Amino acid sequence: MFGLGSLFSSDMAIDLGTANTLVYVKGKGVILNEPSVVAYQVKDGQKKALAFGEDAKLMLGRTPGSIKAIRPMRDGVIADFDVAEEMIKHFIRKVHKRTTFTKPKIVVCVPHGATPVEKRAIRQSVLSAGARRAGLIAEPIAAAIGAGMPITDPTGSMVVDIGGGTTEVAVMSLADIVYARSARVGGDRMDEAIISYLRRQHNLLVGEATAERIKTTIGTARMPDDGLGATMSIRGRDLLNGVPKETEINQAQVAEALSEPVQQICEAVMNALEATPPDLAADIVDRGVMLTGGGALLGELDLALREQTGLAVTVADESLNCVALGTGRALEYEKKLAHVIDYES
Ligand SMILES: Nc1ncnc2c1ncn2[C@@H]1O[C@H](COP(=O)(O)OP(=O)(O)OP(=O)(O)O)[C@@H](O)[C@H]1O
Ligand SMILES: [Mg+2]
Repeated sequence: MFGLGSLFSSDMAIDLGTANTLVYVKGKGVILNEPSVVAYQVKDGQKKALAFGEDAKLMLGRTPGSIKAIRPMRDGVIADFDVAEEMIKHFIRKVHKRTTFTKPKIVVCVPHGATPVEKRAIRQSVLSAGARRAGLIAEPIAAAIGAGMPITDPTGSMVVDIGGGTTEVAVMSLADIVYARSARVGGDRMDEAIISYLRRQHNLLVGEATAERIKTTIGTARMPDDGLGATMSIRGRDLLNGVPKETEINQAQVAEALSEPVQQICEAVMNALEATPPDLAADIVDRGVMLTGGGALLGELDLALREQTGLAVTVADESLNCVALGTGRALEYEKKLAHVIDYES
């Protein structure tokens, strides 16, 4: 694949997301994109990793008692340190074959609200995975660069990154963050909302994978104009008699299920606008809001946000890759963007 393991040091940028991990290699682009999932076995009190990424995600919710498939990142930061470190090492090795002599420099993005302890943990994992230097970049800045926003200009730009675990809303000017808040709502909450809706309204129990499939197939943030929208057939367990059952769900039902997380995202944007200094807020009213992250792909979310906030809303091209692309671009143009990468502390 792509001539991995060349003789040159492959400096890398990593988007360590709650749902997906992406690795960008300098001069090559995004060359790894896998779910942030690890399957492991506990033997004599020791965790032994069995599978990572795509292979491990297939095991989520389907493992026997002796094997666990988990997502080591939660709310955008490391929740299970040992497992996360092993996952980072695995992905770095997969990209950086051991034929090179120099250790790579690695830049990782972290949520704006990450604590010093969390930042140190991420830096440490990257160094112990074989990096020569470990740099950190604030996720909203990476997202905005990746979406092609003019963040170095003296104008206000607002980016809303809707990931698996969190939605980060940030206002930037002159390549720095003026306002940023992270709300614990994102793709995972949407999946949970669908699961609980089906349980309450249809006595149907479905797993996370099914809920995610419903969301990405017919999910929508707005009531369909005809009151029904497209339908999809789904399978789950009937909670009344315990047997498997197949049923149909339509977009109006999914919109109802998703109304709470969608509302929380709208509120996060409104709060950011209220807290932004007036001149920058005026810039945002002029230029609109940029959506990034996988959650930005929810059907009609841009429209729902526009209706509720009155702002122009754009979904970034390659919204799932924005943060990795932006982190990568910061690495490529490091001299020009030096102050956005933090190699110390
Ligand atoms: N078409 C789609 N419609 C709705 N949601 C989608 C779509 N495609 C992907 N998603 C959701 O996007 C989320 C993953 O997005 P992303 O990769 O940006 O998250 P992440 O960066 O790993 O998480 P975080 O930034 O919170 O750490 C998942 O919840 C996934 O279900
Ligand atoms: Mg993300």
